[in-house]
Parts: sequence; C-alpha cells; structure tokens
Amino acid sequence: MKLNNRLAALSGMITRRYKHIWDCCCDHGHLGMALMQSGSATTVHFVDVVNPLIDLLTAKLQQQHPDSDCWETHCCDLNLLTLPERSSDHLLIIAGVGGDLTIEFVKNIIANNPHHNIEFLLCPVRHNAKVRQTLKELGLKLINESIVYDKGLFYEVVHASSRAQEDIVITGSVMWDKLNPKHLQYLEKTIEHYERASRSSPEKYRKLLTSYQELKNKLF
Ligand SMILES: C[S@@+](CC[C@H](N)C(=O)[O-])C[C@H]1O[C@@H](n2cnc3c(N)ncnc32)[C@H](O)[C@@H]1O
Repeated sequence: MKLNNRLAALSGMITRRYKHIWDCCCDHGHLGMALMQSGSATTVHFVDVVNPLIDLLTAKLQQQHPDSDCWETHCCDLNLLTLPERSSDHLLIIAGVGGDLTIEFVKNIIANNPHHNIEFLLCPVRHNAKVRQTLKELGLKLINESIVYDKGLFYEVVHASSRAQEDIVITGSVMWDKLNPKHLQYLEKTIEHYERASRSSPEKYRKLLTSYQELKNKLF
C-alpha cells in the first residue's frame, strides 16, 4: 500500500524497532499496517474510538495476517488508554487530528500511564506552536522533527520523549532547511497567519509573530 506524503514522513521518522507502536486515531489503519510490513514493532496496536471502523480493520487484519500475533485492535477513547508492560518501550503516533485534541490526548495518556517510558510521534492538523508549548510544559524533549507538504497543506511532525536531551523550540529547530524553498513558503504562510491573528489579539500573538519573523531573518 502506498502511503501519502504525510503518513510516509511519519513512517520515515521511525528509525528503530519498538516493542509496541500505537497507531492512535488509526481510522483506516494505513500507517499501522505499513509499520507491520516494515517490521517496526513486535506489536502494532490500532486504536480508534469508532466501533465499526475497528471491526472493519480487525476483519481486514485477520484476513491478511491470520496467524500473526504482531497486531492488536482496540476500540477505545484515547483519553482513557492504559498501556501494558511498564518496562517496555512504547511509541504512540497521533496524527490527523487537531492540535487541541492532540494536546488533550497527550496530557491524558501521560496522566493515565505515569510510570511508562512513552515516545510520542505527533502530526497535528494546525496549532503546532500550542502543541509544542504543551510538550515543553509536560517536560518532553525533542528526538526529531520535520516539515511535510502533502496535498497543498503543510504539517509539522514532532518526535518527543521525556528521556531525550534537546529542548523543543516553539517555532521549530532542526526541521528547517534553509535550502528548501517549500520551507520558506511554509514560514511565510505561518507569519501571515500570525500577522492576521495579532491584528485581532495582539497581546496573545505578538510575541509568537516576532519569533517567526526573527527565524525568517536568521534562516532565509
Ligand atoms: C482523520 S482520522 C486520522 C487518521 C490517521 N491517523 C491519519 O493521520 O490519516 C481521525 C480519527 O480519530 C479518531 N478519534 C477521534 N477522537 C478519538 C478518541 N477520543 N479516541 C480515539 N480515536 C479518536 C476518529 O474516529 C478518526 O478515525
């Protein structure tokens, strides 16, 4: 199965094998299935809150991998997810949902699994700065990050865990490639967005706008 640019970028950022990978909000399950194929985890877990989606996916996986014990499906609200095996490593992927929902999920997953070593691979739809701010407040550090262009839209991918060393920067750090014209386009679009936002709420957005403008002056 060919993944779209966004899901392919997420898959490409997984550079080691995990005991458990969780394709959270899996919907069609394309990403998790690709990760099963590439052998990225001992067990790939598919999580979604919509029962018929999980039933369909379960039937498909049973048909395609009848004897495999390397996948599990879970119909549950991500806000209530409890992880097994405290001593194992878990990579949780949350992609394709809004930034506010991503924040809610990350906060609740950490609260519900306080003794687990969790890595997050996040690709929210919008509100990237707000997601990054929350990750910093939760004590998460940066493993890697990237910018993805898919079907006319830009996305940021952040791979983070509490055991990493690098600080997360609100406007992004290692993801920016000054030789990539698409990155300049993304930065200019982001600046335009915060120019509009700070016209209506200057107190709230002025500082962030300045940070993005300074980044542009420094990089491009
Ligand atoms: C747009 S799809 C994203 C699919 C895939 N992750 C991607 O990036 O292409 C969003 C999915 O999130 C699921 N979802 C929404 N709220 C959820 C929750 N509280 N717990 C688990 N899944 C949820 C929806 O049922 C839907 O299938």
